[in-house]
Amino acid sequence: MLIEIPDVLQSEEVAHARRLLDAAEWVDGRVTAGHQSARAKDNAQVPQDHPVARELGSLILGSLERNPLFLSAALPQRVYPPLFNRYSGGQSFRNHVDNAVRPVPGTPIRIRTDLSATLFLADPDEYDGGELCVEDTYGVHAVKLPAGHMVLYPASSLHNVQAVTRGARIAAFFWIQSMVRDDGARTLLFDLDTAIQRLGLDLPEHEVGTQLTAVYHNLLRRWAEV
Ligand code: NI
Repeated sequence: MLIEIPDVLQSEEVAHARRLLDAAEWVDGRVTAGHQSARAKDNAQVPQDHPVARELGSLILGSLERNPLFLSAALPQRVYPPLFNRYSGGQSFRNHVDNAVRPVPGTPIRIRTDLSATLFLADPDEYDGGELCVEDTYGVHAVKLPAGHMVLYPASSLHNVQAVTRGARIAAFFWIQSMVRDDGARTLLFDLDTAIQRLGLDLPEHEVGTQLTAVYHNLLRRWAEV
């Protein structure tokens, strides 16, 4: 499932992030690439332990902790500290798949990357190209969202970032280990939760809401690894 999560950051938070990122030092993005993807990757990143990456990472994770759509869609168990990248001057990231397991630097924690997230920090009119293209069984989806919006997609997908031919594409990217590892099971839970929320709005007194909520939690109990 590929899902867009709007307004993870508000416009003043995006502006704050852009000011800090503009002043940060950037390095070759291959520092966090695996063996295969290092050859496909051409971009710049803020070093993982840079104070700006930490500050903005906390801002993003704090916002996601309060975002009902993210929580429902990702069922997060662990979230990797966000990284920040920039593509300009024809840079791109050719087709690749993200590493399955990532150690969190400076900790004994490892994250299984069930979901990949890209949070756009530049508006579409600031650059040409730079679409995130994600392949699934229904074809290729090209994603280019307003600043502050995020896309969540299965980390198992082949994906690429198209060449940026004008301006700069700036984004945060990170991974989520979900309580529910299987994308199909997680999608069913998300669809069920979405239906229950709608039912609660349309028929708040109907007891079927309680029954369906029980089904939701009993499926989650069956599938969650915590
Ligand atoms: Ni990737």
